[in-house]
Amino acid sequence: MKNPSSRGLFITLEGIDGAGKSSQFSALVETLRGLGREVVATREPGGTPLGERLREMVLNEAMSTSTEALLVFAARQEHVLHVIEPALLRGQDVVCDRFTDATLAYQGAGKGIPRDRLEALAHWVHPGLEPDLTVLLDLPAETAARRMREQGRQGDRFEREPEEFFGRVRRQYLELAREQPRRWRVVDATRSLEQVREDVIQNLKKFLEL
Ligand code: TMP
Repeated sequence: MKNPSSRGLFITLEGIDGAGKSSQFSALVETLRGLGREVVATREPGGTPLGERLREMVLNEAMSTSTEALLVFAARQEHVLHVIEPALLRGQDVVCDRFTDATLAYQGAGKGIPRDRLEALAHWVHPGLEPDLTVLLDLPAETAARRMREQGRQGDRFEREPEEFFGRVRRQYLELAREQPRRWRVVDATRSLEQVREDVIQNLKKFLEL
């Protein structure tokens, strides 16, 4: 495990829409709690009262891509200052459903904002803060789109994007995972929820050196 101090662990979960993230999020949280660890379970955009209001806007209102990126980072600033950092400092683990990697993938590769611009915002909003572990639920965009259709999901602004958009988002996630293999674990999310869950838990336990 990378983090020998009394600071908690910062663990994030990423993947394109339709990857089955919500079930696997609870697998991470429950496993850590089952080991007697204190966990703050949270999400982005959101995680604070103001962040949740910003989430509503970002998911539902038409806006330019740069406004979208700035609002996501505004929500993140509140989240880091009021939830994530304080919890980590108290020694609690933070499991977060998406973080800055989602911005690099969605607003960056998906919508074309240059990566260095997003990285400059990340450096402003959370200097020195990076997840200790990031689990990527990986699956082809077509599979994710089929699942969302089968679930009859209404779709927010992002979920209504075309399959090519999710192809770019997926490729960016895989590239980020290749760049930092010590932080990322790529899990094949084409399998059944139970198989994926087992893999997520095994990866977490290996990371914790259990
Ligand atoms: P969710 O469906 O995983 O709750 O995430 C909400 C949507 O927000 C999802 O489609 C991805 C998108 N999103 C971004 O575009 N940029 C970001 O930085 C974050 C955190 C999420």
